[in-house]
Amino acid sequence: MKQRRLRVGILTSGGDAPGMNAVIRAVVRSAIHFNIRVYGIRTGFQGLFRADVNEMETQDVKEIIHRGGTILRTARCKEMMTEDGQRRAAEIIKVMQLDAVIIVGGDGSFKGALTLAKLGIKVVCIPATIDLDMDCTDYTIGFDTAVNTAANAITCIKDTSSSHERCSIVEVMGRNAGYLALWCGITSGAEEMFIPENPVDSQTVIEQLIQNRVKGRRHHLIVMAEGVGGSDKLAKKIEEVLGIETRATVLGHMQRGGTPSALDRMHASVMGYEAVKAVKEDNVNTAVIYRNGKHELMDLEEALSVKREYSSEMYDITKVLAI
Ligand code: F6P
Repeated sequence: MKQRRLRVGILTSGGDAPGMNAVIRAVVRSAIHFNIRVYGIRTGFQGLFRADVNEMETQDVKEIIHRGGTILRTARCKEMMTEDGQRRAAEIIKVMQLDAVIIVGGDGSFKGALTLAKLGIKVVCIPATIDLDMDCTDYTIGFDTAVNTAANAITCIKDTSSSHERCSIVEVMGRNAGYLALWCGITSGAEEMFIPENPVDSQTVIEQLIQNRVKGRRHHLIVMAEGVGGSDKLAKKIEEVLGIETRATVLGHMQRGGTPSALDRMHASVMGYEAVKAVKEDNVNTAVIYRNGKHELMDLEEALSVKREYSSEMYDITKVLAI
């Protein structure tokens, strides 16, 4: 008797991240390589409730490795935040006879995946978020591209800021974490960074600005994480107290778009392949993570409970280099 081929679903969920398309490509092609049927679920978990699902073939993922966004589209799914929604999602996956689902996204998507795992669905997760705010892994797909996009924008802002002898405050994304701001700060030569992990008060910034002007510096760059926020308020305060023209810029969603960097494409390709291999070998209810220079599998529940200590090393170095 002919053996039934395994069937795997793939969805991208939560905020999109550059490199998600490269993951989809890797998953589809690896599945076909392992003789597994692969189904694309559109608009994240929402696609389950709408049965917006199609089998995918090699040609469906051609010419997408370099494209931003996600061809499967994504959403933050409200139904998946309720027990009833989670139960219904699990039922639908069973009806669709999917043997496993590969879930690509951030922390919220991993939590959604864990609820499905507890309802008997086999899942494998891949970390993708520009925020790098997942303690189980040293890398999340999309981070490198977002840092490059933001750093390029900050370089432009710095040019005009220098011409006008202004202070610039640039607010970057990152949700409640400061990684994006830290990396943008160090790579843009910022004088100061406001991140949730390392509070700085506005008085300190005002004193730094005075010292910098005394040293002959004509511009001042502050990178602020959205998790701290209030860039407009700080700009007004600096103008009021020092009379130095200050402009606040919120970079916003531009940080999530654009062609994924080679680093993002590499992690996406390897993680996509490893996720399918995990399904094939029944190493499910796991996350593909990157730790100590290696891609590996971690139990999903453990992945969600790992806590990483904040290290001020990068902040301290940025401050040394800003003298
Ligand atoms: O998690 C990615 C992210 O871009 C965060 O940095 C930001 O806080 C959030 O998503 C914005 O979400 P939305 O696109 O739903 O406004």
